[in-house]
Amino acid sequence: MKYRRLGKTDLKVSIVGIGTWQFGGEWGLTYTQAEADAILDQAAELGINLIDTAECYGDHLSESFIGNYLSRRNRENWVVATKFGHHFHDLFTRTDDFSSEGVIKQLDDSLKALQTDYIDLYQFHSGPDDLFDNDVLWTTLDKQVQAGKIRHLGTSIGSNANIHQTEASSKVNSKAIQVVYNRLDRAPEELVFPSCVNQDLGVLARVPLASGYLSGKYKPGAVFSNTDVRHRHDADNVKQKLEEVQRIQKEEVPEGMDMAKWALAWCLKHDAVTTVIPGCKNPEQVIANASATDLISDNHPQAWKA
Ligand SMILES: NC(=O)c1ccc[n+]([C@@H]2O[C@H](COP(=O)([O-])OP(=O)(O)OC[C@H]3O[C@@H](n4cnc5c(N)ncnc54)[C@H](OP(=O)(O)O)[C@@H]3O)[C@@H](O)[C@H]2O)c1
Repeated sequence: MKYRRLGKTDLKVSIVGIGTWQFGGEWGLTYTQAEADAILDQAAELGINLIDTAECYGDHLSESFIGNYLSRRNRENWVVATKFGHHFHDLFTRTDDFSSEGVIKQLDDSLKALQTDYIDLYQFHSGPDDLFDNDVLWTTLDKQVQAGKIRHLGTSIGSNANIHQTEASSKVNSKAIQVVYNRLDRAPEELVFPSCVNQDLGVLARVPLASGYLSGKYKPGAVFSNTDVRHRHDADNVKQKLEEVQRIQKEEVPEGMDMAKWALAWCLKHDAVTTVIPGCKNPEQVIANASATDLISDNHPQAWKA
């Protein structure tokens, strides 16, 4: 594994982290604690130390799997990133709650589910600009930082061209941007990444496998179960994406190379990107994803210097 500094924080994060939306049950599978343990143990064995979760991957369900796991392992070895701003109701159904009181309640619920007394990175979860531009909210969060419940604040931008929230980050003491970035979707390169570099913000590239389409294992016409979030994606758009993946596989991916590994390394080569957080459904995917590290040199502006 290789490690990078997350922007101007003191956090040393593995360049391949682990996304855990999957633990919430919206990817066609439900999880047992033993299955979640196996994924996280595999990650730890390969040097992965960054977990991304959220309040609404199930009703704090993903966080609960992680918390149960951490209660039996060394919490200090992990960088735990979670998010605020939503209530989960049922599969694919959430309501927004970015009010200060609502967020404080969510924070306490997340700490309880995660069985920890601090969160390393607490991220604004893809809310609209008018709810982001709320001084009372950020002042409330700052108090939680002072109280030691939160180590650092971050912003997970909803649209990957959201320059408003990116530019405002330093002002609200948010030190990392989470953004959709992958070989099929390069929008952040234009405005968001230059702003991150200017402000020395860490960047967590989410959906780095384009929801799994960039793994190369799906062909145009692929069908997903109605408990898999991809069932809700626009069919024509998915078909176009999968055709483009076939072209990329033929023209850009070296022969014999696992496409998921290649796709993650592709993201990590950008100077602005600190880490990728692919969602993993089993230990085999963790192994394949961690192997992207083999394709990355130590020569990156945020490379961790001991
Ligand atoms: N608004 C937000 O803040 C937000 C939104 C979305 C995601 N996120 C975070 O970002 C993380 C990553 O995004 P994502 O999970 O939506 O998309 P992703 O990482 O692009 O794709 C994940 C899916 O790809 C497939 N996959 C993973 N590794 C693979 C491998 N080595 N080989 C083949 N297939 C592989 C798995 O599904 P199959 O095996 O079923 O194909 C997995 O569920 C999430 O887990 C979550 O933590 C945050």
